[in-house]
Amino acid sequence: MSDALQKARAFLETYLPGEADDALPRFHVTGGIGWLNDPNGFSVYRGEYHLFFQYHPYDTKWGPMHWGHVKTNDFIRWERLPVALAPDEPYDENGCFSGSALELPDGRHLLMYTGVRSERRDNGMMVNYQTQCIAIGDGVNYEKYAHNPVLTAADLPAGGSVLDFRDPKIWQEGERYYAVIGNRTADGSGAILLYESADALHWTLDGTLASCHNQYGRMWECPDFFRLDGRDVLLTSPQEMTAIGLEFHPGNGTVCLIGSYDAAQHHLLRENVQAVDYGIDFYAPQTLLTPDGRRVMIAWMQNWETSGCRDESLRFMGQMTLPRELHIVDGRLIQNPVRELERYRGTCIRYRNVMVCGDTTLHGIRGRCLDMTVEVRPTNENNPYRWFRMNVASDGERRTTIRYKPETGTIRVDRTHSGFPHDIVSLREFLVRFRHGSIKLRIVLDRYSLELFVNDGEQAASFVLYTPAEAASISFSSDGALFLDVEKYDLDL
Ligand code: FRU
Repeated sequence: MSDALQKARAFLETYLPGEADDALPRFHVTGGIGWLNDPNGFSVYRGEYHLFFQYHPYDTKWGPMHWGHVKTNDFIRWERLPVALAPDEPYDENGCFSGSALELPDGRHLLMYTGVRSERRDNGMMVNYQTQCIAIGDGVNYEKYAHNPVLTAADLPAGGSVLDFRDPKIWQEGERYYAVIGNRTADGSGAILLYESADALHWTLDGTLASCHNQYGRMWECPDFFRLDGRDVLLTSPQEMTAIGLEFHPGNGTVCLIGSYDAAQHHLLRENVQAVDYGIDFYAPQTLLTPDGRRVMIAWMQNWETSGCRDESLRFMGQMTLPRELHIVDGRLIQNPVRELERYRGTCIRYRNVMVCGDTTLHGIRGRCLDMTVEVRPTNENNPYRWFRMNVASDGERRTTIRYKPETGTIRVDRTHSGFPHDIVSLREFLVRFRHGSIKLRIVLDRYSLELFVNDGEQAASFVLYTPAEAASISFSSDGALFLDVEKYDLDL
């Protein structure tokens, strides 16, 4: 084991807080201590789900990237494993960047990641050379492949930059292995390259699966490509997006390109492009296929733009989203929490047909670790309410507000008063399908986050909150009469 890996493992043995630590979310993955970003290597290995992540254990800021490691049987309760990779070879000495994993036919676990080596150019600028590397292990310990790197500048198409060549996502189809990798093209924007291999060690370029052409951001990071409900789906996280109406937002976002794959051209014929998550904190998702055939996605529940703003009293920075089951319905991506969450539903409190007009609180409807569904209907279609609002994670002074306006068909989430010590972006607004003033909102709270699923997963929106955990009140209000149903489960975790 290298010194760098040994040092990281020893550091965590000393400083990692117990998983029951009150300052940690109950079921959202964090690094426990230090900085976490992208999910990596989300895979099924020997019947368990493994998740690795971009990790800098020594600080709550990004630094030389290691791979942290956890595993689970149900996507909710995670077991922490020793750090899997450290930057300790000449080809990855400045970081083991994002990548993925799969189980080899011989029972070993293969990781493919981006090795980063920085160099100062003659003009004084630092540049990062990025190559693709492999490590193979047994689910706990991993050894880097002797012939790393396995993909270099020589494997790029004309004009592709070796300074932006990263985040391989690998999968197996029949006897062959495939990988999609993000790359910057000659026009300065991004592309997703497709590679193929017979043994997952020797790779050749098939072609360019999709190109950005300066539409939907610029550099495309963290691709994932899979078939779902008869369609071919490419997820990628663009940098430098500009907003288009309410569909995308500026900065780092994640888009879903839905279409059909042309195998002869190795090209995705795109038919529909949409944002994946309409909240503030969502990036770099990765999926796996469960043995029972579900496509499950997990993402970094954070945004690069605001990642410098943290609660200094917490020893961790960065969380994953709740894993979500994906479907394509009517050409759009649908996402809902993994069904395993329901196993942890404890005490239930239900209300039906509560008439709301003005401010309302309901006995027992409160909490910061819960799974709650709220349905709203107008009392009279000719005289609908104009807005419905709920405050969660509230103590009067602090609150996170979800507002629905049937007239404009928009939901707005406001976390201005959610405990942030800096003036960062706190508002998001997005369009939902018109349903005659009816709306269904599923809200999952886990101390420092809010995930919202609208109308059975037609939209999802994720937000980090830093409101102190004692702020647990929930209230409802509207400017006109409406009927409200609430079903709230505490989560026993
Ligand atoms: C995305 C990303 C990846 C890279 C990693 C580095 O969030 O920039 O492209 O591999 O983070 O930590």
